[in-house]
Amino acid sequence: TASFAADIELAQKSTLEKIIKKGELRVGFEAGYMPFEMTDQKGRFVGFDIDITKEMAKAMGVKFVPVNTAWDGIIPSLITDKFDIIASGMTVTQERNLKVSFADPYIIVGQTILLNKKHEGVVKSYKDLNNSKYIVTSKLGTTGEMAVKRKIPKCTYKSFETETEASLEVMNGKADAFVYDLPFCVVFMANQGEGKVVFLDEPFTFEPLAWAINKGDPDFMNFLNNFLRQLKNDGRYDKIYNKWIRS
Ligand code: ARG
Repeated sequence: TASFAADIELAQKSTLEKIIKKGELRVGFEAGYMPFEMTDQKGRFVGFDIDITKEMAKAMGVKFVPVNTAWDGIIPSLITDKFDIIASGMTVTQERNLKVSFADPYIIVGQTILLNKKHEGVVKSYKDLNNSKYIVTSKLGTTGEMAVKRKIPKCTYKSFETETEASLEVMNGKADAFVYDLPFCVVFMANQGEGKVVFLDEPFTFEPLAWAINKGDPDFMNFLNNFLRQLKNDGRYDKIYNKWIRS
């Protein structure tokens, strides 16, 4: 049928054309990763990634449509077209890159440690946690979890569904250390950690964060990288960065 032919034609097009045609950019993320994507008191999504992707939608002349989704299934959701792009503080890893394409990194972060106060001065780096007597937490399916498994293999690792649960476990003394991305830990310290946990703030991994899109779409990728370069050099990036990240 004609509609079948039209479907085939659309399927061969760049996501960029579909976005323009629908008049909306659907952005996939999981809220809870401070200060990149959070839910405010009124239930609105706010943060560094949100502001940047709102600029992205503006640059395309389309509506910004946030799609909050579980981190665990975020890549499968992109692949099955639940949204057009992942903007969720996602680290470029070689494993993920086998499944999705990444634009150029928009920020570089690394893993840091929030330590229970009782270990102050004794545990000085991730290396000191490499002992089964230490309970270390992070979030399921993140590079925090991967870093613990690879670099602190002898610790007792406890995985949590959310950043909040994993970090509070250390604050209330049920775990010894929480391993996570630097910017999240900075915000945690500023909000509630001060004087209660110790922040080992020297990153021990190298983690470029980037937008992920479906493979095989050079037009969309070209748009994104040119958009990023523009944003970074015309003052908009700095403004958004200073609002959410520079303290
Ligand atoms: N950068 C880390 C990773 O890619 C954590 C990202 C978590 N993002 C989120 N929106 N919860 O695994």
